[in-house]
Amino acid sequence: MPKNLIVEIAFDMPRLEEKMLAKAAAVKGLEVKLTNVRQQAFGLEKPSIDVSLVRCVSMYSAVHTAALREGAGVRAVNSSSTILYSGDKILTVSRLKAAGLLLPRTAVGLDSDAAWKALEKVGLPAVDKPPIGSWGRLVALLKDLEDFKLVVEHREMLASSHMKTHFIQEYIDLPNRDIRTLIVGDEVVAAMYRYRPSNDWRTNIALGGEPAPAFLNDELIEISLRAAKAVGGEVVSVDVFETVDGSYLVNEVNGVPEFKGLMKATSVDIPEKVVNYVVRSARC
Ligand SMILES: Nc1ncnc2c1ncn2[C@@H]1O[C@H](COP(=O)(O)OP(=O)(O)O)[C@@H](O)[C@H]1O
Ligand SMILES: [Mg+2]
Repeated sequence: MPKNLIVEIAFDMPRLEEKMLAKAAAVKGLEVKLTNVRQQAFGLEKPSIDVSLVRCVSMYSAVHTAALREGAGVRAVNSSSTILYSGDKILTVSRLKAAGLLLPRTAVGLDSDAAWKALEKVGLPAVDKPPIGSWGRLVALLKDLEDFKLVVEHREMLASSHMKTHFIQEYIDLPNRDIRTLIVGDEVVAAMYRYRPSNDWRTNIALGGEPAPAFLNDELIEISLRAAKAVGGEVVSVDVFETVDGSYLVNEVNGVPEFKGLMKATSVDIPEKVVNYVVRSARC
């Protein structure tokens, strides 16, 4: 291992994950630099950092941080391109589909009028999502056209233009849970079920979804690795739906994955795995 590997942990809102990563890196003997991206200016000269672990919650802050580090000759994990392609659901499905993975039937309307046509293509019941978002926010279940009218009306009121874009998918009748896997390098290191909370149809941990360990079979491993590879992901999580006929559909890839739920469910030391990977890959 290079003696003086300096690892940056770049964040905007420090969460438990960033603290655990910093601790694991320090335990491994790495020099850790904590960077609050909201409190510093980025130049393009090379900083004294070898690897930047990009952990910003804001998708564009994460993409920009990774890109600025890459421009200055610093390896970003994940890369700006991975964060961008996994952070925007339209870009994600583009990569996943091109890689031959199975996805829920999807149609995109780039504005409100087109969204009605997208819904017609998909049919009801459906799920409407803004292309950029997380924690299940603004992910709406459409049972009928009245639901959709309301969603379109609300999204029209939001300022940012991507909020007027509708990413619409067929509603998958999940068995009360979905599956999340975490990939580090070329290994699937953990998997969990996320059970729906009693008061929501979505399974996000942020909305009260309950983590439980999941068995990683060969098919799940293969799908997870292919999905990660499709976006060039080094440390990513992959969300998978099980269908009633027993097949797996990839829902999304997260390029700045949270993992405290996974740690709770599986007891896998994920920060240690990430830090070991960073050290291992820096040696190559
Ligand atoms: N097509 C779908 N069918 C059924 N449930 C869905 C579908 N899409 C999303 N969900 C539910 O909503 C949750 C949030 O949607 P997701 O696409 O993962 O957005 P986010 O990026 O906000 O997590 C998922 O974890 C899942 O529980
Ligand atoms: Mg999700």
